[in-house]
Amino acid sequence: MDDRPIGIFDSGVGGLTSINAFSEVLPHESIVYFGDTARAPYGTKSPATVRAFSREIADFLVKQGAKILVAACNTSSSIALDAIKEDHPDIPVVGVIKPCAARIAEVCTPENSIGVIATPVTVESGAYEKEIRKISQELNVHSIGCSAFVPLIESGAFNTPAMDAAIKHTLDEFIRENQVDTLVLGCTHYPIIRPNIEKLFPWLSIIDPSMALAMEVRRILTRYGLLASEWQGSRMFYASDLSSKFLGIIQMLGISGDYVLKQHAL
Ligand code: DGL
Repeated sequence: MDDRPIGIFDSGVGGLTSINAFSEVLPHESIVYFGDTARAPYGTKSPATVRAFSREIADFLVKQGAKILVAACNTSSSIALDAIKEDHPDIPVVGVIKPCAARIAEVCTPENSIGVIATPVTVESGAYEKEIRKISQELNVHSIGCSAFVPLIESGAFNTPAMDAAIKHTLDEFIRENQVDTLVLGCTHYPIIRPNIEKLFPWLSIIDPSMALAMEVRRILTRYGLLASEWQGSRMFYASDLSSKFLGIIQMLGISGDYVLKQHAL
C-alpha cells in the first residue's frame, strides 16, 4: 500500500478531463495535478521546448511526493516520456497514447476509417501511428494536427460559434476525404469540445482515451504494489496561471468532492 499521490499533468486544463475517470477507477487515490496554463499551448511549440517544460513539471510533481507520473497530455506523451523516465527511473511514468492505441485496436476493425485529431507536435511525432502499428498492422489510420482548438479552449471560448467554425474549418475536408467514421480525441483538451464535434458530425463514433488511461494507471499501480489504502484520497490542483477559467472547467466537468486549488509558477 502506498498513500502518496498520483502525479498528473497537462499543458493546461486538458488533463482535467481525465480526473473523473481516475475518481471512478481509483477512488482511494490522492491526486496532485499540474496544469501549465501560463505556458499553454504546448502543441504548437517546438518539441525541445515541450520536452523541457514537461521535465520541469515532472520534477515539481515528484517534489510533491508523486508515486507515479501520468502525462495526461498527448503532446508531452508523444515526445517527452523517455526524458522524464530517465530523470525519474525510480517511479513509473505513463503516457496517454499507448493506452489509447490499445483502446483503438480493441474497438476498431480494418473496415473502420480512424481519424486521430491531435496537436501538430503529436501528429508530427507519428506517435499514434507507431503505437497502433505495434498492436495491429491492418487498421486504417489518418491524423490531422489542429492548432486552433487548444487556444480557444484555454481562453474559455469552447461554447461559441468561433469554436464551431474552427472545428468545421479544420475537420470537414479531413473527415469527408478520408471517410472517417471513428474520431480519436488525441488531445486531452478535446473532450471539452466533444459536444461541438457531436453536433457538427453526429454520425461519428468518438474515442476519448481518459478511461483507458485511468485503467492503465490502475494496472501499473497494482503490478508494483502501489495502490493506496482504503481511504478517501485528497486532490490538489496546481495551475501555473490560476484564473477563474481553470476553476470554471473543474466545475463544468463536474469534478466533485473536496479539492485544493493553488497557483505555482515553474
Ligand atoms: N492537452 C494536450 C494534449 O493532449 C496539450 C494541448 C496543447 O497544449 O497544445 O496534447
